[in-house]
Amino acid sequence: MAIRIIRKDGDEILRKKSREVETVDNKIREILDDMVETMHQSNGVGLAGPQIGILKRLVVIDLYDDNGPIKLVNPKIIKQEGEQEVEEGCLSFPNQFAKIIRPAKITVEALNEKGDKITIEAEGLLAQAIAHEVDHLEGILFVDKIIPGTLEFVETEE
Ligand code: NI
Repeated sequence: MAIRIIRKDGDEILRKKSREVETVDNKIREILDDMVETMHQSNGVGLAGPQIGILKRLVVIDLYDDNGPIKLVNPKIIKQEGEQEVEEGCLSFPNQFAKIIRPAKITVEALNEKGDKITIEAEGLLAQAIAHEVDHLEGILFVDKIIPGTLEFVETEE
């Protein structure tokens, strides 16, 4: 496994659309493992392919609970319900936080790291995290969705 470099605000790859993964093979599993390691090193709760410069529909999530880490290939939100106003940040935008609106509940279809089709029903923080990462695969960033006047710059120790 290896730590990858996280692409930051202003890197144009963050605005590109990611491609579907055709086969979940060892190369894909290695990228997913690297993504988990990179996310953990930065204490993040999620990371998407473009954030490490790979335009593939790959997402990892870890809420540091019994479910994690979760590895998703080609995740697709097939249903969403309600709204939640949440505080959000992104590893590509260090020190920036804002309030945004996310769906309260989502249903996601994806492949797992074995290539099996899975369905996840998520609410609360998990729904927020998955929605955030799926946006990355479309080149959409949380800063596009900020509730006006709520952006804060917070100094954190590196
Ligand atoms: Ni992000």
